[in-house]
Amino acid sequence: MDWGMKNRLARIIKPETGRGVMLAVDHGYFLGPTERLEVPRKTIQPLLPYADSLMLTRGVLRTSVDANFPIPIVLRVSGGSSIIGKDLSNEKITTSIKDAIRLNVTALALSIFVGARYEHESLVSLAKLVNEGEEYGIPVLAVTAIGKELEKRDERYLSLSCRIAAEFGAHLVKTYYCENFEKVVNKCPVPLIIAGGPKLENEHDALQLTYDAIQAGAVGVDMGRNIWQSDYPVSMIKAVRAIVHENHTVKEAHDLFNKLKTTEQSAKTATSV
Ligand code: 5RP
Repeated sequence: MDWGMKNRLARIIKPETGRGVMLAVDHGYFLGPTERLEVPRKTIQPLLPYADSLMLTRGVLRTSVDANFPIPIVLRVSGGSSIIGKDLSNEKITTSIKDAIRLNVTALALSIFVGARYEHESLVSLAKLVNEGEEYGIPVLAVTAIGKELEKRDERYLSLSCRIAAEFGAHLVKTYYCENFEKVVNKCPVPLIIAGGPKLENEHDALQLTYDAIQAGAVGVDMGRNIWQSDYPVSMIKAVRAIVHENHTVKEAHDLFNKLKTTEQSAKTATSV
């Protein structure tokens, strides 16, 4: 791997622990003003100091993140469908490599839709993006998207999807956690990170998901809703970090969350009076 590529990846997956916490706030690209991400700057700003990298679109990057805050950016460069449209898999590359370079991004992210109507287009887009990324030393994160079919999150499907992403040259793959996740990890020759998916019933469940994924071999998370839809997002991202980087157990991380949320609540109350 070339120096630039290695250096960029090391900004996402920290060499000190071999793991990373990526904060996902790209949801608006097909969901519009997602709950608790209605005003992106307000959601993102307090979480920035605790994320190793930030995944988002160029529109939210330019409007809602200060350029002088040194956080590595993972730029979503695919899109073209909305939640009320006909087919979520109908995506293309929406952002040029030139603009990504202008934005000084650390990695490029694109969804693939294995088994969906536009499978072919999404895979060819991944190949094209990897070609461009290789040319400029910018890693590509492939997202194994499932659209509205949440039931697709099983070992068989995710193994297929992750492996195809790696075969196409993705440098990092984001997927979902599932039972027997270690089998998905073993069959994918590049590092895997997990999405949180829709908000779980409580923070404990999201911490358990994080812990199980790390134990099974994921190198980190690319988590969104289970962090910023929590009533205590700063406490939550800190607890997730503790599992990812400090090998906390679920109980230790949950205790930490409970301790931190008291301070977060007091800070909220102080600013609202
Ligand atoms: C949407 C995405 C999201 O970034 C991804 O799903 C992570 O966010 P969450 O933890 O909320 O699922 O790629 O296509």
